Amino acid sequence: MCGIVGYVGPNLANPVLVEGLRRLEYRGYDSAGIAVMNGNGLETRKAAGKISRLEEELAASPISGNTGIAHTRWATHGAPTQCNAHPHVDCKGHIAVVHNGIIENSSVLRKQLEANGHKFVSETDTETLAHLIEEAFEGSLEDAVIDALQEVEGTYGIAVISSDDPDKIVAARKGSPLLLGIGDNEFYVASDASAILAHTRDVIYLDDGDIAVLDRKGYHVLDERSRRLSRKVSRIDWDLDQIERGGFDHFMLKEIFEQGASIENTMRGRLLDGEGTSKLGGINLSDEELLQFDNVVITACGTSWHSALIGEHMLEEMARIPVEVEYASEFRYRNPIITDRTLCIVISQSGETADTLAAMREAKNRGAFTYGIVNVVGSSIARESDGGIYVHAGPEIGVASTKAFTCQVIALLLFTLKLARLRNLSVVRGREIIEAMRALPAQIRKILDSAPRIEDLAEEFKDSTNFLYLGRGYNFPTALEGALKLKEISYIHAEGYPAAEMKHGPIALIDAEMPVVFITPHDSVFDKVVSNVQEVKARGARVIAITTGEEPALAGKIDYEIRIPPTIEMLIPVLAVVPLQLLAYYIAVKRGANVDQPRNLAKSVTVE
Ligand code: F6R
Repeated sequence: MCGIVGYVGPNLANPVLVEGLRRLEYRGYDSAGIAVMNGNGLETRKAAGKISRLEEELAASPISGNTGIAHTRWATHGAPTQCNAHPHVDCKGHIAVVHNGIIENSSVLRKQLEANGHKFVSETDTETLAHLIEEAFEGSLEDAVIDALQEVEGTYGIAVISSDDPDKIVAARKGSPLLLGIGDNEFYVASDASAILAHTRDVIYLDDGDIAVLDRKGYHVLDERSRRLSRKVSRIDWDLDQIERGGFDHFMLKEIFEQGASIENTMRGRLLDGEGTSKLGGINLSDEELLQFDNVVITACGTSWHSALIGEHMLEEMARIPVEVEYASEFRYRNPIITDRTLCIVISQSGETADTLAAMREAKNRGAFTYGIVNVVGSSIARESDGGIYVHAGPEIGVASTKAFTCQVIALLLFTLKLARLRNLSVVRGREIIEAMRALPAQIRKILDSAPRIEDLAEEFKDSTNFLYLGRGYNFPTALEGALKLKEISYIHAEGYPAAEMKHGPIALIDAEMPVVFITPHDSVFDKVVSNVQEVKARGARVIAITTGEEPALAGKIDYEIRIPPTIEMLIPVLAVVPLQLLAYYIAVKRGANVDQPRNLAKSVTVE
């Protein structure tokens, strides 16, 4: 997804901006650009494709100055061309704008501006902003930005510079994350802290409606009526090396290997072993209030939606409360039955997914208590939810979500333990669950030891064109997640299905060319799944089985076996997903795919 970085200070802006763009690469993008004030006026350089292309442009035609803004664009309005790349400028080339989000009324505004004589050069909605600001400009850039934004419907995080009000950046946020970096007489703006972390750890997360003005002397934040606001400076406590590859070939592999440590972080300080429950600081509800809920709705997208499905099983089984899981994109436009006795759990790695954020706001408007399960600290969902838990997975850079998923499942279990113990879960059962949770990090590390074997398996299957992933109960979502991982990074078509549902249609696809990945732990539905394996094998499929031990019942029915350690039923997805992540990873690498930045995908989907 698009990324913004801006700099004003005594140093040259270019190196800071280009380095910042590199840090934002992981978000996914298809063009990049930069605008710098060179002392006389504005200069911009843009390129379609990777940041290295922009660097070539800059090398061929250097620009230099101490104030600048830069952007990585992920195309929404108009193709990923050099012309459509940001920054966009006004007619006179005095104002440059970078923008994340969507201006929904851009075509109406564009017609009006064209009627007033403005000349557009790109197909983007963002260019409208540059012309609107030009129209409103009377000497103060912040006043012009505030006026222009009155006309705009939609979402934005923007950074603007102008040669008519030089050495200043004006930034504004509505619905798209933006933060300020506070340095020593130098100031930054960025859509993501990783872009500026090399320079400062002191940041201000802007709220919707904030307009920030940064120059060499300082910064201030205004509201939409130009009144000064006070905003808290937060200190970032994670390191850049946490977001660097740390010796692994790809971020995704590093993040898969981090899962032992990351789930330890999710659990840290939150388990009350003796009482068989959890302690959740950010819940913002008393035990009495927690007991008032009649039902739970969990909303999320993609991988987070898969963890939600596992949460549904846990909550219904142990807390005995009705749970529904909804795709956030569907939920927001339905007329869902939500009351003030509904608990709405919102799951998001980024905390910025547009559909999830909108679903959460919808649930809130209808009176639900919203509880965020979020990874990115200070993100919109984290800040707007009524209560919540950070999963503490650390920065997830690979576009395909891995460690966030396992941490989300753990966070859901922590919440389930809390609620279930208040309702009807026995202390003995609570303790058993905690014991199993505590064993997970070592068990994950053991599974990771089998990475070379999974790599060999990937060699065997890398040329397949379709895959089926089957599981039941807690492992139906695991099957969905395994299939999603494979399709998004290797571009092999893959489907996840409940193992028994397969005979109602997908079985027609099965032949000797179809690899079928079965999740067959020794759980309460094991015997049933064995029958499903039999059905598939009888039609010639090549079967890869994830098992939890020696299984005579599977003898002769499977072609490849990946063994994971046994654990309690509800935690099997946390272990079983690890070999599936590795299988997808190695297949994608062997096919030469760009694993960390798969085509067409973005790390944080901040558009509808
Ligand atoms: C899959 C993946 C996506 C995200 C989805 C939601 O690997 O990364 O499916 O899970 O876009 O993102 P978050 O969790 O940030 O709301």
